[in-house]
Amino acid sequence: MFITLEGIEGAGKTSRIKGMREYLEEKGRPCIVTREPGGTKIGHKIREILLDPANAHLSFAAELLLYAADRAQHVNEIIRPAIEDGKTVICDRFIDSTLVYQGVARKLDPGLVDTINKAATGGLLPDITFLLDLPPETGLSRAWREIDTGGRDASESRFEEETLSFHRKVREGYLDLAKKEPERFAVVDASDNPENVEIAIIKRLEIFMRDAALVEMRTED
Ligand code: TMP
Repeated sequence: MFITLEGIEGAGKTSRIKGMREYLEEKGRPCIVTREPGGTKIGHKIREILLDPANAHLSFAAELLLYAADRAQHVNEIIRPAIEDGKTVICDRFIDSTLVYQGVARKLDPGLVDTINKAATGGLLPDITFLLDLPPETGLSRAWREIDTGGRDASESRFEEETLSFHRKVREGYLDLAKKEPERFAVVDASDNPENVEIAIIKRLEIFMRDAALVEMRTED
């Protein structure tokens, strides 16, 4: 099973992944938790370039291709082998981040972004994508608080430095994607308190796993 989490800065993806992993492992599903960018050694180096605020002048095309390079390595080295090994992969960000950050907010050609995403993934798609949705004002103030209190490194703040209108476009882009693919996306209100967000995620996971088991049973008949 391949699960991804998406959302603007400060949506709380990292904390929610912990609870999700605990729940799945209790159900007897071994998990691999990973992220983009930076899920591999090579990707870690790419992440440093992408998130360093000193690289404010990185061209949009270079940015797109660096995310794709990170993803190509990640899918090949970590994600595909883990899925083939029967593991559940939980990935913090995947193709949808590129579709909205580079495609919508940076206004790069959506057809080009899609083609590059496919080249990087070989067509691999998540089984379910959790979109942790919240207003950018709330997300950004959480993200900056994390940076100010040392929970996140200031050397990774290139996107937090973007304008509020950039983050509004990202949020709208995500909500549009979720509308277009309602069978893959589960939208969760991430402005609620963490316990409720976690409960909402686990409920959706339960429904997803029950439906998947039913489909499996039917195909065995
Ligand atoms: P994060 O891993 O802390 O969420 O930070 C990653 C940043 O990179 C975040 O601001 C979103 C951005 N990003 C893109 O712009 N495109 C992508 O394809 C991915 C994976 C992330």
